[in-house]
Amino acid sequence: MSPRIAVTGRIPSAGLDLLHEAGEVVAWDSLDVPSVEQVHDMVRGADAVLTLLTTKVDAAFLDAAGPRLKVVANVAVGYNNIDVAACVERGVVCTNTPGVLTDATADIAMALVLMATRRLGEGERIIRSDAPWQWGMFYMLGSGIQGNQLGIIGMGDIGQALARRAKAFGIRIAYSNREPVSPRIEADLGAKFMSQDELLSTSDVVSLNCPYSSATHHLMSTDQFRMMRPGAFLVNTARGPIVDEAALVEALRSGQIAGAGLDVFENEPAVHPGLLQCENAVLIPHLGSATQETRAAMARLAAHNAVNVLAGVAPPTPIPLPST
Ligand code: GLV
Repeated sequence: MSPRIAVTGRIPSAGLDLLHEAGEVVAWDSLDVPSVEQVHDMVRGADAVLTLLTTKVDAAFLDAAGPRLKVVANVAVGYNNIDVAACVERGVVCTNTPGVLTDATADIAMALVLMATRRLGEGERIIRSDAPWQWGMFYMLGSGIQGNQLGIIGMGDIGQALARRAKAFGIRIAYSNREPVSPRIEADLGAKFMSQDELLSTSDVVSLNCPYSSATHHLMSTDQFRMMRPGAFLVNTARGPIVDEAALVEALRSGQIAGAGLDVFENEPAVHPGLLQCENAVLIPHLGSATQETRAAMARLAAHNAVNVLAGVAPPTPIPLPST
């Protein structure tokens, strides 16, 4: 019997074509996010499921799928939507899509650094609002970044790719991470390892590039904003709940920090109403990996992962097993 493969969101044909060669595919064919019930109906009896980051994979999902399920292939690098331990307990392999979205996401992080420090969102809003404006020596001055310090929290692939970009802009790199990266990478990037507290208190821009987990929930909250320099900026392209959004609104309103560039939100797609009022916040709708090339590569890699597991072959990018 050919394997049954469910796909819980619309994905590019580059991935679907591979799946069709491997089995019978049931794919959600709408750009709307399916409800939990719709997901559970779709995955019933599946051997493999491709999930988007809007799909929650928990005990109820695994119960709905049933005992044939062998692999959950997330079409995303972040996998906080998946209860990996519950999957492992049932012998279900989990995979994600690292690597293929590194450059696209680092591009967006760098874009947000520039947009926030140079007030580009605000400028665009002025033009579109038809308000009068005039070039002037003191008009809409932003903050220069050359010679400033970018503090990167989470120096994985995306953090390093952002560091390479920032270095080309003449920015100094500091980073905090569970472990220092290799001396060779540090030397290439001119990056200095420091504690998170030191990084927060010395950086002109702080960028979040770490995964989201219970350990990083609200990693940026009132105390951390207090540690930041008054002229500093926060950029988040990782996951929304790493930031306590209410505390961020307070820090932006009070001038505790100078501005923020956000691609992700604590309860997305909802955005804290206070953020909408902050002129000094640049807000974009989770576009980190949103290029045609990257999304095709993500779909292809996720499909490759699923097809390999179904064939009894090691998948290219398994999610590391949770440490016990
Ligand atoms: C996007 O946010 C991803 O994790 O791939």
